[in-house]
This record gives sequence, structure tokens and C-alpha cells, in this order.
Amino acid sequence: MTDAASASLRPDLALVPRPDSVTPLPGRFILDHHTGLRAGPGAEAAADLLRELLTPTTGLPLAPDAGGRISLLLTSGQQALGAEGYVLTVRPDSVLLSAAGPDGLLRGIQTLRQLLPPEALAAGGARPRTPASGWSLPCVRITDRPRFAWRGAMLDVARYFQPVSYVRRFVDLLALHKLNVLHLHLTDDQGWRMPVAAYPRLTEIGGRRAESEGDGVPHEGAYTRAELAGLVAYAARRGVSVVPEIEMPGHARAALAAYPELGNLPGVRLEPWTRWGVCENVFGVHDAVLDFCRGVLDEVADVFPGPYVHLGGDECPRVEWERSPAARDRITAEGLAGPGALHGWFLGAAAEHLAKLGRRPLGWTGTGTELPTAFTAMAWLDTEHGRAAALRGHDVIMAPYRSTYLDYPQSADPGEPRGQDGVLDLRGAYDNEPAPAHWEPEAARRVLGTQAQLWTEYARTPAELEYLAFPRLCALADTAWSAHRDWPDYLRRQGHHQTRLDALGVRGRSLPPHPERNAPCAPRPEPEPTSAARP
Ligand code: ACM
Repeated sequence: MTDAASASLRPDLALVPRPDSVTPLPGRFILDHHTGLRAGPGAEAAADLLRELLTPTTGLPLAPDAGGRISLLLTSGQQALGAEGYVLTVRPDSVLLSAAGPDGLLRGIQTLRQLLPPEALAAGGARPRTPASGWSLPCVRITDRPRFAWRGAMLDVARYFQPVSYVRRFVDLLALHKLNVLHLHLTDDQGWRMPVAAYPRLTEIGGRRAESEGDGVPHEGAYTRAELAGLVAYAARRGVSVVPEIEMPGHARAALAAYPELGNLPGVRLEPWTRWGVCENVFGVHDAVLDFCRGVLDEVADVFPGPYVHLGGDECPRVEWERSPAARDRITAEGLAGPGALHGWFLGAAAEHLAKLGRRPLGWTGTGTELPTAFTAMAWLDTEHGRAAALRGHDVIMAPYRSTYLDYPQSADPGEPRGQDGVLDLRGAYDNEPAPAHWEPEAARRVLGTQAQLWTEYARTPAELEYLAFPRLCALADTAWSAHRDWPDYLRRQGHHQTRLDALGVRGRSLPPHPERNAPCAPRPEPEPTSAARP
């Protein structure tokens, strides 16, 4: 066996995502109480993290000064593999992980974890349980690098709030699969989860709703600033960047419940929305609203150090603007064509402020026409819209609902938990292709990568979330990392990978006994012709 596909026939070399090149070597490397873990200059953080992950589950100290048979090194020799590439060589007497940069080491230590017996991944708090065969690694040489720089997952904590302890576990699961972006959907009609010192009612009032779709059960939750800052640091240590999303100008009803003066209906009191769908209440376009958005973005930029801030931008009905005298004044003052143009104007003004803060705007897009060009476009309708946006000069992240929205049930089986109407099965998730080969090179070049979407209308608890996420998130990670497409090979590797998910306590959907195909998911409701946000 000389390549990754045939190596995947061996359970201990069946990795997810699939490495670029896997060459099995003879023998095994045995880990015991005398095995040292040594870090070269600049590699200490990755080595510390690896020790922190392995010592509690294996009971092995992996001391830095114990002779160092496992070595992590930064070396300019691996520059050709890029920022996240690495080479891992396991021989009977040594393990060497080398990379040109710290992120490469962070990806490589996840490969090393997967090469160990699954017990090494045991869920936090479990006592070390040595497998019958002891702790060992198969000898192998792996040379690896990702296809795409952006490999992410969006977690909607606005519909159902998740405590930061769970979000940290979610980050661990992303890191295990070499996913490097956690996109946190922090605000929506049904809840506002990020505290903003200047606007305390955002979380006090906007963080609670009376019920959800008539269930009679109140729901509330908000993070503290310290929790969010801690999450950012936790994720950064694992090579995952956190991208915050603050929705505007639509999906804003929770904010309007807290501060009605930011809306279009003077004197009308709104509650955080208790239904799912697209709400007509959107931000107004008067100066006080822009001041509010700037204030919120200042705080967002303080807490989240990454280059991107997501400004939402999807599904913004304009019925309120069509009736609003303040909107008419704005259209006249800015020389806009009509209420439809207010959407782009609003996002442009928010993006201008982000630029002053040294940040880059991201927005949801159908066709791309509604986003100012400074935006990186997150293409959620379908891949062709992403291609069109790329050809117009946007950087693009592919998030097409047909293959990346994990709120669809995973099968048509009547026992499957409820989700959006339709089905996205494992094969559908694996078939996500962010930049098809027949595209113009200038469009393909603009595709930064892809991500999964975990909208939570139908997932209240971590267990419900993980059931929806797994194993489809593994399929997405595989296609975001590796250019190699081979469904039977993926399914075989995933079969072995399920033992790792089991060890982690991830209770996802079991794999189909035969490669099954369900009818693909029904189209998302087509864009409203009156909506500014959709084409
Ligand atoms: C979206 O699904 N409205 C981004």
C-alpha cells in the first residue's frame, strides 16, 4: 500500500479528513511512561496542547525532558506545504512532526491523536483506560496540506442558546477534524446572546423569549464578555478562529424588543420573536441606528480579534421601509433608487465602520448583487450564486443549503428527528463541491473554502445538535481538506472513524449499512421578490 486510499483499508490508518499522502511503514511505535515529548523552538504551544489532550486519557506523562522520542519541530523545510501543512513520520524508535508554522503542528497533532487507539480520545473526565494492546502508533509517513484555507462550521446560538462549556466541546470537535473556523451566529429575531456594555437591554430583554412556536417554554441565555474572550483564546490555542455574526439590517427583532427606537414603528413594543421564519421587523435607517451598530461593532471588535466580522445581511423584508418616512428621507438624502437600495447602503455603512476598526465584512448572499464588493460573500442559496459573486469580485465562502445545512433530517426514515422540510443525507454532504473543476479559474481562485451550517430551530440541546452534526460534519471536513473524491473510500474511513466519535461520546446518526441515497432536500423557500436581501 502506498497511498491514502489503500491505507484507509487499515483501521489504524483510516483518517478523517483524508491526508494528502499516507505511506505505511513497517512496525509500531510504543508509548509508555518513559516516552518523552520534546518541542523545538516555536513548537512548545502545540506540544503542550498535545500533552494536555493525551495525558488525562492515556495516563502517560509525556514529559518534555524524558529523552524526547516524540518531537515537534518548526522547520522552514516544510514551507512548500503552506501554513497548515505538516509531515508526520512515525518509526519504531521515534515520532517526528514537522511543519513550517504553528498551525501546521496543530493540524498534525490531530492526525497523531487519530492514529492512537480510539481510547486516547475518551471524553473529558473519563479515567485513563489502557486498550488491551497498549498505547502505540502505526509506523507511517504522512505528508499533508489542506485544499481550502476556510473550513468551518456555523453554530446558531441565537435560536437555542448553548453554554460556553458546550461551545468549547464543539471547538474540540472542529479541531479534531481540522476545521479552522467557528462562525457564531450570535443574534437573530429570537435572541441576542452577546453582551454590549453600552446597551445592556440587548441581553436582558433580547436574550429571553416567552416560548418557541407555541411550546409554552420560555428560553433565555447570554454569554458574558469574559466567556466569549475565553472561548476565543481556547479556540485560538487549537487553531480555530471564531467569527462573530451580528445580524443586520434584518433578523433584528430581539434588538428591537430591547430598543424599540431602533426600528421603524414608533410607539410599538415588540417582544423577541417566538416563531421561526423571516420576520418583517428590521432595523430603521435613521442616524441613531447607525450609531448603535457602530457601538456594537466596536465591542465586537474588542472581544473577537480575528480579521472577519459577519454582518448577516440575509432575508431583510423591506415592507417597513416602504412605509417609513425616515426611510424616505434617507433615500432622498443618499440619492438612492428606492427602498430596495437601503439594504446595500446600510451594510455599506456598517462595513465602512468595520474597515476603520481594521476588520473585514462578511455577509450572506444569494446572488451577490446585494452586498457591497468589500464583503466576502457567504453563498447560501447555491454554488452558482457563489460563482456569480466570485466573478463580480467577491471572495466567496460556499455554504449552499442543499449540501451544507445540517438542519435538514439525515434520512427520510420516519423515525428521524424533525428538521427543515427535506433531507440532506451523508452522501449529499460529501458531494458538496465548493469550486467545480469546470469553473473559470478566476472564479475558483476566489473561493476561500466552505462551511457547515447548524441552524438550531430543531436542535435545543447539545445531544440534538451532535446528532444533526455527525457524521455529516465529518464529510464536510473531508471535502474541505482533501481534493480527493472517492465516496466508497470515505465511507470506509468514516466507518473506522465512528469508533473515535464513540470514544468521544458523540452520538451522531449511525452510518448507512449500504451506501444509501435519499431524495435530495426540497428547495429552501425561494427568495421573496419584495425582499431586498434576496435576488
Ligand atoms: C440563510 O439561510 N438565511 C442564510
